[in-house]
Amino acid sequence: MIFQALNSMKNPKNIVIFVSGNGSNMSNLIAHFDSNPDIDVESVFSNKKECLGIINAQKAGVNTVTFSKQELEDGNVTELVDLLNIDLIVLAGFLLKIPIEFTSHFENKIVNVHPSLLPKFGGKGMYGKHVHKAVIEAGETKSGITFHYVNENYDEGNIIEQFECEINPKDTWEDLESKIQQLEHEHFPVVIEKLLTQ
Ligand code: GAR
Repeated sequence: MIFQALNSMKNPKNIVIFVSGNGSNMSNLIAHFDSNPDIDVESVFSNKKECLGIINAQKAGVNTVTFSKQELEDGNVTELVDLLNIDLIVLAGFLLKIPIEFTSHFENKIVNVHPSLLPKFGGKGMYGKHVHKAVIEAGETKSGITFHYVNENYDEGNIIEQFECEINPKDTWEDLESKIQQLEHEHFPVVIEKLLTQ
């Protein structure tokens, strides 16, 4: 027990979070891991200089890095993440296509949350409200979230875990969005903890 405690004080696991928008998952993860000495949010990375995610990460006192699509594609971001000695790269509403050089360098170290039950409603153009609108239009009776590893193809990496919610006949895409957000906030920290500490 004491050894375990000492070990975690010496060696917290480091994560970086990639965001492109509001970053509500990012804020939830930062708040959650604030009280967990085993996991440290080292930095928040974004391709959007002034997105709410970056503003809120700075308010929370977390180091932030912004970069261009070009810098992601030419390996600059890979080099920087390498220097930080990161255990897990967490995509939380990160919307740029990630190049194969990055995904193969960090194989099985990048985790994404997708707001549907993959393989349904995944792929290019399927993000955020576009997913919820498509799910409602298709008349689905349930949806959910998928945590998966990231490879070079949109939403096709190995699935880690999925969680479902029901859709009522009168639900709008906004209703579904809020059910999905609740699921994500509840499960994302737990999934990361499991991946890093088991
Ligand atoms: C989340 O619902 C996440 O599942 C989705 O973007 C939202 C980001 O919300 N990601 C995708 O659609 C990826 N294909 P947040 O910025 O408030 O965390």
